[in-house]
Amino acid sequence: MSAAPQSRATPVPAAPDDANDLPASVWPEAAERDEHGVLVLGGIRATALRERFGTPLYVLDEDEVRRAARRTLAAFRSAAGAHGAQARVYYAGKAFLSTEVVRWVMEEGFAVDVCTGGELAVALAAGADPARLGFHGNNKSVRELERAVEVGIGSIVLDSWIELERLAAIVERRDARQAVLLRVSSGVHAETHDFLATAHEDQKFGFTLEDAPAAVARIRELDGLEFTGLHCHIGSQIFGTAGFRESAARVVELHAELLAGGDIPVLNLGGGFGIAYRPEDDPTPIEALATGIVDAVAQECAVRGIPVPHLAFEPGRAIVGKAGVTLYEVGTTKPVQVDDALTRLYVSVDGGMSDNARPALYGAQYSARIASRTSDADPVLARVVGKHCESGDIVVDAEHLPGDVAPGDLLAVPATGAYCFSLANTYNYVPRPPVVALRGGEARVIVRGETVDDLLARDAGLTATPTEGNDMPRMSQRSETT
Ligand code: LLP
Repeated sequence: MSAAPQSRATPVPAAPDDANDLPASVWPEAAERDEHGVLVLGGIRATALRERFGTPLYVLDEDEVRRAARRTLAAFRSAAGAHGAQARVYYAGKAFLSTEVVRWVMEEGFAVDVCTGGELAVALAAGADPARLGFHGNNKSVRELERAVEVGIGSIVLDSWIELERLAAIVERRDARQAVLLRVSSGVHAETHDFLATAHEDQKFGFTLEDAPAAVARIRELDGLEFTGLHCHIGSQIFGTAGFRESAARVVELHAELLAGGDIPVLNLGGGFGIAYRPEDDPTPIEALATGIVDAVAQECAVRGIPVPHLAFEPGRAIVGKAGVTLYEVGTTKPVQVDDALTRLYVSVDGGMSDNARPALYGAQYSARIASRTSDADPVLARVVGKHCESGDIVVDAEHLPGDVAPGDLLAVPATGAYCFSLANTYNYVPRPPVVALRGGEARVIVRGETVDDLLARDAGLTATPTEGNDMPRMSQRSETT
């Protein structure tokens, strides 16, 4: 590793022995190379996927999603079962939401958490039983709440006093009764990026532990609302159990206090379970996390002499993250002399911060491999960048790639199943890529790719009459028509 200063304060990973390998911690279980060295995903060659669907391409291995869902559900059920409690697991739809994915996770026994009217619409369009949906969000509109109550949503997680009264008015008007949870902020700062930590004091989500008793008392005096439990989510991409355990201890204390006012069937401890993005990442396996968290809850309950409530969890990333691989085509390469000791090969691909905003938003680190071939060329330090007009348009900040990586090579970035498609944007009018699902050696489009025509279709300026000799509408005309 070079001690030389770098243009970005990120560590240079150690050069791998083999820059063609596919470390099991970051690649889907079914990823392999064929006899020609071509990457095979879910039984299909990456080169065949490029031919059929083009690049950039989001690839989602359905078997891997289902496997992660089953493993996660089993882990939490068995951890809760050891204390005579049940566990319900919601898939946090924000990680990746489409009707297909809703159906997969529901078939595997999950409930689904949504956090906007749009996500609710997707889950309903998938045919989800509304009773198996939970509704989050710190600023749900009257319309969104109305819709949720109207369809009979399983639970609404209340986030503020204003929302509590807003929902109370809606259920009264509709003569309905709605199960609610109260989101609390436990004050625990999870060890993750600041923007991914949600339960410390200076942020927008939930009630403080101090305000919660008054809010629960208010819910309990309303006929239309049924208080079913507390909710706490401390953040995302968390590797260890310490933060979860500390948070659980604080929330159980409040839960115990609130039992004096009536039964509380559930305690929802949110999601946030981390995954490996790079081979050196070492997240706690989900079984150990589940046991660690649930045992902490049970211990706190035992100390207070109260029964262990049924528990709910909301993993998103841990279900879809590792199942996703993004395929890009290399367009240009350019060695850049960073300083006397460091040369970095910039490898430009045909996507970028529009299909993966995470490096730009959180400094997220990914890995990459050439997918269309293997190479014996010595590995060089590379930075995979996109095609957007920003120097922060980075896909993989630091990776060793074979030194002969060249235009036309297909590049694969693993662990892109969570928060890439869902955070995608159309910056620089780059259309969003399609999503292809793989199962049983078959590939099918589950979200079609966008076209420039899709983007132009929103441009109201196109309805203006072109001026003579100039097919661009004049500014004045455009403003008249908008
Ligand atoms: N429950 C609640 C209330 C949440 O806010 C979240 C994530 C989850 C569950 C699921 O967390 P997960 O298991 O996926 O970590 N865009 C960021 C992550 C934002 C997470 C927002 N809330 C990223 O790309 O890392």
